[in-house]
Amino acid sequence: MSLIKTPQEIESLKRGGEILSAALSAAMRACVVGASTEDIDRIARESMERAGAKPSFLGYRIDPHDPAYPSTLCISINDEVVHAPATPARIVQDGDVVGLDIGAWYEGLTTDMAATVAVGKVKEEERELIIETRRALEQALKVVRSGAWISEIGAAIEDYLKPHGYGIIRDLVGHGVGHAVHEDPQIPNFRDPRASKVQMRTGMVLAIEPMVALGSWKIYQKTNGWSLATRDGSMAAHWEVTVAVTDDGYDLITPWPNQL
Ligand code: MF3
Ligand code: CO
Repeated sequence: MSLIKTPQEIESLKRGGEILSAALSAAMRACVVGASTEDIDRIARESMERAGAKPSFLGYRIDPHDPAYPSTLCISINDEVVHAPATPARIVQDGDVVGLDIGAWYEGLTTDMAATVAVGKVKEEERELIIETRRALEQALKVVRSGAWISEIGAAIEDYLKPHGYGIIRDLVGHGVGHAVHEDPQIPNFRDPRASKVQMRTGMVLAIEPMVALGSWKIYQKTNGWSLATRDGSMAAHWEVTVAVTDDGYDLITPWPNQL
């Protein structure tokens, strides 16, 4: 399938992105002390289903031989970076740093986005990690335009975050999105010498998603077979939006969530 979406497809993606952003905003509001991750998951799923969209992670297989993903949201808490499933037994605690990642199918196309919220008494350096990770994504968006190199995204993120000494996760990437949850190109979040030389083109739809740790970038998979967490146990933050590349910039497919 072509990585270039038609103007009609981009209009569908924008309608889907509005629905997705509303579902993520609802999940962020529901992310309070005492809520189970399953409660938050249901709120997000019901929000998108009322609008006619369907979860795109629920049932998804990252690799064809993987098991199907069990929830609508990935709710990754504290040292977890991404992909933690929602479960009834898992309760949000005071001081948690909670990453919420979600995708939705609408009119045959899928969008992807994520945000990180601080619940209650979160340490100042952890709040700063959350804010700076979002700002790094905003910096990355500034390089997006037809003709730019995909590698400029990682360079912008790395340069912006350099003064903090954070660990930018290296084993996970942003990606093309639309006809599938993960499409080419892969989008590293740092100056990756292995990055393929791909140029952005008008109509490409990209999910850009810096994942950043207070400590080292090294991660491992928890025994549930899904959750990816920092090896040193340090806190991680994750923000993601889907954009469509245009001649002179981008169209935001998934509006920034509004929490209020
Ligand atoms: N947004 C996630 C990503 O881009 C997709 C999660 S797929 C799931 O990696 F199956 F783990 F939910
Ligand atoms: Co993604």
